[in-house]
Amino acid sequence: MKMFRAATQRLSVATASRRMFKTLRHFCKKAPRKLRVSEALSGADLEANVQVQGWVRSVRSQKANLFLDVNDGSCLQSLQIVASPQLNDPLLTFGSAVEVQGVLKQSLHAKQPVELAAEHIRVVGECNSSDFPLKIKERHKLEYIRQFPHLRCRTNTFSSLLRIRSEATSAVHSYFKENGFLQIHTPIITSNDCEGAGELFQIEPSSQQSSEDENYFSIPAYLTVSAQLHLEIMAGSFSRVYTFAPAFRAENSQSRRHLAEFFMVEVELAFTRSVEDLTEVMEDMFKRITERVLDRCAEDVDLFHKHVRPGHRDTVEATLKERFLVMTYSEAINILKRSSQTFAFPTNWGCDLKTEHENYLVKHCGTRPVFVVDYPYQLKPFYTRDNRDHPEHTAAAVDLLVPGVGEVYGGSLREERLDLLRARLEKIGLEDKYNWYLDLRRFGSVPHGGFGMGFERYLQCILGVDNIKDVIPFPRFSHSCLL
Ligand code: 4AD
Ligand code: MG
Repeated sequence: MKMFRAATQRLSVATASRRMFKTLRHFCKKAPRKLRVSEALSGADLEANVQVQGWVRSVRSQKANLFLDVNDGSCLQSLQIVASPQLNDPLLTFGSAVEVQGVLKQSLHAKQPVELAAEHIRVVGECNSSDFPLKIKERHKLEYIRQFPHLRCRTNTFSSLLRIRSEATSAVHSYFKENGFLQIHTPIITSNDCEGAGELFQIEPSSQQSSEDENYFSIPAYLTVSAQLHLEIMAGSFSRVYTFAPAFRAENSQSRRHLAEFFMVEVELAFTRSVEDLTEVMEDMFKRITERVLDRCAEDVDLFHKHVRPGHRDTVEATLKERFLVMTYSEAINILKRSSQTFAFPTNWGCDLKTEHENYLVKHCGTRPVFVVDYPYQLKPFYTRDNRDHPEHTAAAVDLLVPGVGEVYGGSLREERLDLLRARLEKIGLEDKYNWYLDLRRFGSVPHGGFGMGFERYLQCILGVDNIKDVIPFPRFSHSCLL
């Protein structure tokens, strides 16, 4: 009897779950599937009942049909919605947020493979288009949308930029993973001025909790200008390390290539004896990342190469095919001296290369990227390796200059010889402060070197964007920290 009851119970549970499954299937058949615009446009779900959510990029009301273009940021192209005029609503305006349900159909127009025949349209968020600073069907200039950092992601150009930036970020990480590098999360807050240029933002709590004159960390602390010294620590144990993090510089500059907060990819390689070991990685990384971005963000990159810097595609493709050039600082100075151009800044051996010089040099190189190596020793920070075997007093430092942007990478071999490094630190009165750095040379020191790539300058270079403020979501520069 007991057994019989148990069997009946088992049977009823099985039957119930079968019924429930049937009901669920029935319900699922009816319920529209939520698709992103990119998924809808792929054409994989023709005739399916779907729901799409996004923002209206255009509205065209005709006698027979209402047409909307809806975009949700998943790709550049918008999904065309075709609806009966009865579904029109005065709230359906450019910029409004909508939820549309209907059936995906093959489109008769070559421009879009798929369209959505709408059954329901719901306005989720209204947009008063007369007050909205972005206007329908206008390709606003980058300078114009820069005034609206809270709204510019609604434009095609800036949403393309953000997708490219995201893809380039993944490409950077993939490149290093594939090449055996270890990612290090280096600190944002530091007590060092790695570059020694005095461009530090000092940090303290906004309201002092303890006595007025005491530093929060008991010593002055800053936002990092470069993670290099922390990476050098790690390169004493891991032969290949990198970081991809924000860097901060209190530059008093409004230039189109300087930000107060920017992102930098930094690399440190142990057992590295020559600048060529560095330039090889710099060039390879630049090319592989760019190839991946061009491949995976073709439509978005095309927008820049068509509308922002027409013809830039050819320049980028040529860059990928050719080997980058190499010249010494001394050769660069000779080229500048022979030039008929008048420069605002001096071009004597020992002078720093300014933007005008860098621009001249890349033009001289026929728009090919050029590595400038072996800078005067005195121009470079304390950590740079002394080229003792050179007739002129130079350091094993390298910058990569690219057309239209100038310096994108800066790097060097690091001084691994304890006596030379100590002598230089003594000279600038930093021997005590950098005792820990000298330890790295005392305990298992190896020849090593590394570099940093300005991520925004890299994006400027591959997209042909003139102003660095247009390739970062929220630009910070002197006298401007909006939002
Ligand atoms: O040449 P920099 O100053 O080199 C360093 O910081 C080294 N410690 C890096 C290293 O070897 N690990 O900066 C590296 C790159 C520059 O070539 C430039 O592309 C970018 O960072 N950069 C800036 N980008 C935007 N705004 C600024 N204010 C920048 N300063 C440097
Ligand atoms: Mg530099």
